[in-house]
Amino acid sequence: MRKILISGASRGIGKAIALKLLKEGHSLSLGVRKKEDLINTPLDPKVNNPDNFLVHTYDATDQNSSKKWVDSTVKIFKNIDTIIHCAGIFKRTNLIFNSSELKDIEDLWKVNVMGPWILTKDAWKYLTINNSARIIVLVSMSGKRSKGKLASYSMSKFALMSLCQTMRNEGWEQGIRVTAICPGSVNTDMAKEINHFPKKDMTQANDIAYICSNLLNLPNSSVPFEIALNCQLETAI
Ligand SMILES: NC(=O)c1ccc[n+]([C@@H]2O[C@H](COP(=O)([O-])OP(=O)(O)OC[C@H]3O[C@@H](n4cnc5c(N)ncnc54)[C@H](OP(=O)(O)O)[C@@H]3O)[C@@H](O)[C@H]2O)c1
Repeated sequence: MRKILISGASRGIGKAIALKLLKEGHSLSLGVRKKEDLINTPLDPKVNNPDNFLVHTYDATDQNSSKKWVDSTVKIFKNIDTIIHCAGIFKRTNLIFNSSELKDIEDLWKVNVMGPWILTKDAWKYLTINNSARIIVLVSMSGKRSKGKLASYSMSKFALMSLCQTMRNEGWEQGIRVTAICPGSVNTDMAKEINHFPKKDMTQANDIAYICSNLLNLPNSSVPFEIALNCQLETAI
């Protein structure tokens, strides 16, 4: 069983992954902005064993947040061997943005790129211990191709993909394996404004949880670096 940090576990994909991995018996440390979001849910610390289930405040825009989360987790779990990066935001900023949209671009950079980077950095020394650590990153198809007019979101996800490649390169010899999951549309709050495509036909958060669970069972020699999944055909890729 693994000792896992999951960011963005309050909703959507992160929550679905946390629920599945909890059932499977892993030790989980969830990073959320508001702990109260988990009250009266199966992820409420009150209904779980405090020896292998923690909830910590984590805000990707606060550079000190991840170190506090990592340190508190190691105090209880003694180690961390897996990070699943799910915290992320979406903004629709065009190439020709106006000055009021500059903050959106800065926020995307902070949350989608610097958040995973700093959290990985702060946990790195623990990930290198057992020669079998895993880092799973929710990137996006927007980290592989730029579709429509999503300049800022795509920019953040391409940068995140590059970071995944560097994590893989730098962690390879110590047995760290990285997987960038690249979905198209997933039926969560983030995709709620997509109306031209039925929600039931989108990728579901539980399907991504299933993929993550399987990834954690693979040996170092067989972990895919990238999993791209589309719910709609994209012939140009
Ligand atoms: N849904 C899609 O169509 C889709 C497709 C491809 C890739 N992705 C990627 O998958 C990841 C998860 O997306 P989702 O669909 O689960 O989105 P979601 O339902 O909107 O959930 C986003 C999660 O990120 C957290 N978060 C936002 N800002 C944060 C911050 N500053 N610090 C820490 N946590 C923060 C949210 O916490 P709060 O509850 O506190 O806001 C929430 O837990 C994202 O990286 C997203 O880009 C999603």
